[in-house]
Order: sequence, then structure tokens, then C-alpha cells
Amino acid sequence: MDFRFTEEQLMIQDVARRIAAERIAPIAADFDRSGEFPLETIKVLGENGLMGIEVPHEYGGAGLDSIAYVLAMVEIAAADCAHSTIMSVNNTLYCNGLLKFGTEAQKHKYVTPIATGQAIGAFALTEPQSGSDASAMRIRAVRSPDGSYYAVNGKKSWITSGPVARYIMLFAMTDPSKGAKGISAFMVDTEREGFHRGKTEPKLGIRASATCEIEFTDYRIPAEDLIGAEGDGFKISMGVLDAGRIGIAAQAVGLSRAAYDAALAYSRDRKAFGQSIGSFQMIQAKIADMKCRLDAAHLLTLRAAFAKQQSATTGARFSTEASVAKLYASESAMFITHQAVQIHGGMGYSKEMPLERYFRDAKITEIYEGTSEIQRLVIARNETGLR
Ligand code: CAA
Repeated sequence: MDFRFTEEQLMIQDVARRIAAERIAPIAADFDRSGEFPLETIKVLGENGLMGIEVPHEYGGAGLDSIAYVLAMVEIAAADCAHSTIMSVNNTLYCNGLLKFGTEAQKHKYVTPIATGQAIGAFALTEPQSGSDASAMRIRAVRSPDGSYYAVNGKKSWITSGPVARYIMLFAMTDPSKGAKGISAFMVDTEREGFHRGKTEPKLGIRASATCEIEFTDYRIPAEDLIGAEGDGFKISMGVLDAGRIGIAAQAVGLSRAAYDAALAYSRDRKAFGQSIGSFQMIQAKIADMKCRLDAAHLLTLRAAFAKQQSATTGARFSTEASVAKLYASESAMFITHQAVQIHGGMGYSKEMPLERYFRDAKITEIYEGTSEIQRLVIARNETGLR
């Protein structure tokens, strides 16, 4: 196994690290407080290739690979989790899905504006009554008698970047009698009539990443904006989520690294009973446990990215690797940010330091793109072959 990164992978990591330090870290606390969407810095990420890292040059992307994506995500998440959430949806759920399943015309029309940072994308699977049980969706897309368009009616909820997205990958029921096999995927242009946005959700963490409900009333999707064939939607969504989960794992690693680095520095600087608290065994045990989890989460995430790269030639699914990485990295992010707050004591609880923000932000990584319970289900089903 080769643990060295290529020059290109290191280059994008460096670009991400520089933008994270110069542009994102200085504003992260303010945007967390206000909950405002960080449009300006999101544009900077797009202009520097970070919104379409795996998108080929011909569609406006950086033309790099999944390892490069993980390295860049870690850097952005270490500065601000909310920015990395927006970046992850644009890169994987949106661009990756369209690149894999879209037509040439769909790629040119819908991938390029997102990959170049001119517009923001979203992914609409969840509904008020269907989260983990994704195929229990109710939204309907009915083909017109002449086959030229689909009429969409219904709601989607918890749509990351929903309040600002120009284009959305939508999953809707075209044939409810077929269950999961009756779901189809479409591209939505939010500037068309019949599209409505609900209120922005007030959230515990990733507060600058805007989330809302969206609603469709007699919204018309031209037939050429169907992705794949009718009935392919559920499998498309699951394949896209496999890739998305690697991004969330990388986000959890970045967040964990920021919390770990802060705790390490504090354990050296803070004195109690005449010595640095880092010299006490109880703090040392925490540092050791945090370090083991951080490194293991990072390696599992890189392994998942490697498996995804291999799948481009073998066609093999990488669901298990992606779910293992997402489950382990997100639960480690909870553990590490919790320990980091504890090491900082009262200062960890104060809004004057970023620790409490890291702690709040970490929780979402155990919930979105499949809860920890769903990751365990995916892993166990794949390992045992039983359902
Ligand atoms: N790739 C391709 N196909 C897949 C697949 C995958 N990873 N996983 C399942 N499939 C296929 C199966 O092979 C099956 O096909 P066949 O019928 O031809 O055999 C079909 O899909 C149905 O599969 P299951 O019977 O396993 O489906 P299920 O109803 O039992 O559900 C589940 C499986 C794993 C629980 C799935 O519903 C799931 O992942 N739920 C979680 C949903 C989720 O992650 N939501 C996140 C919302 S998006 C989000 O959070 C974005 C954001 O804001 C940032």
C-alpha cells in the first residue's frame, strides 16, 4: 500500500488549507452566530476548483480524484464545518451523481455552473415522513400524455443549501405501485414556476449551511431532465450517497483534527497544580485516545476514497468502505470534540473559543447522509449477506 500522495493531491490540499486559513477561519464564528449563508467564500471555493474537485476539466472542474477530494474536505472542515457541508453537497451528492448517471447534455448544462462556483446545487431525497426509510417517499412526478414533461407535486424536507440552490437533483415517485423501483431522478431548475422554498431551519450546528423544506405545485420538468431511466431513481440515490458518505467522513476528520489540535495546545499551555495539565495521566489518556481515533478515522476515509477510485474501473460497489468510514469518523468526531471541550474546562463551554462550535457541529455527521444506525445496517447487511 502506497501512503504517499501525488503532487496534484498535495496541491489541492494546499489550496484548500490556504483558503481555509485566510478566508474561512476568520469568519467562521460570526457566520455561526448569525446563521447567514457565506456566499462570498463559497464563490472563492468554486473559483479555486474546490466545488468540482472530481469533475473533469471539460465540465469546469479540477479533474482530480477522490483522495484529492478527501484531503481538501479535511482542510475546509477543520476551519468551518458549515462551509464543508455546502462543499460536500456540491461535489458529491450533486456533481458526482450527475457525472455518473447524467447525459452529456445534462452534464454540460447542470454540472458546469456548480463546479465553477457560479451557482449552488442541492440533493432532494428526504421528506417529512421519510428520512432513513428513503423509499417511502410520497412526492409524485406524473408523465404528461404526450411524454414531453413530468408534473411534480409534493414536499421535500431538510434540503441542504435549499434556500440558495439554483439546481436540485430530485427524487420522486413515478410509479407508486412499484415501491423503490417506482422512484425516478430528475434535474430541477428552481427558477421555474411551481417551485417554492419554506423557512430556513434553525439548527444546533452547521448554522451557516442553510437548510429548508421545498415544495412543488404543478412544477413541470422537461422529459430530457429525467436522469437515467424511469424507476432508476432509488439506486441512483443510494450510489450517490455511497460517495457522499466519504465526504461526510472527511468532514468529521477535519473537525476532529481542529478539536484535537486545540486540545493538544491547551494541554501544554494550561497550568494547574504547578504544571501543564498535559502532564497529568488523566489528560494524557484522553490525548492518546483522541489521537488513535483521529488517525484511524483518517485512514478509513482514505481507504474508502481509494475503493471509490478502484470502482471506476472495476464497477464494484464501495458501500461498505464508505459506511465504515462515515460511521467511525462521525462517532469519533463526537468523542474527540467532547473530550476537547472537557480538556478546556470552562473555556471549552465558552463561545469565546471554537470548541463548543466544534461540539455542536460534530453531531450532524452522525445524522445526515444516513444515521449511524443506517450505516450499521448497511455494513451488517453487506457483511452477512442477510437482511
Ligand atoms: N448502490 C446501488 N444500489 C443499491 C445500493 C447502493 N449503495 N443500496 C441498495 N441498492 C439497491 C438494492 O440492490 C436494491 O435493488 P434490487 O431490488 O434490484 O435488489 C434496491 O436498491 C433496494 O435496496 P434495499 O432493499 O436495501 O432498500 P431498503 O428500502 O431496505 O433501504 C437503506 C436501504 C440502506 C436503509 C436506505 O434506505 C438508506 O440508505 N437510507 C438512508 C437514507 C439517507 O442516507 N438519507 C440521507 C438523506 S440525504 C442528506 O442527508 C443530504 C444532506 O442534507 C447533506
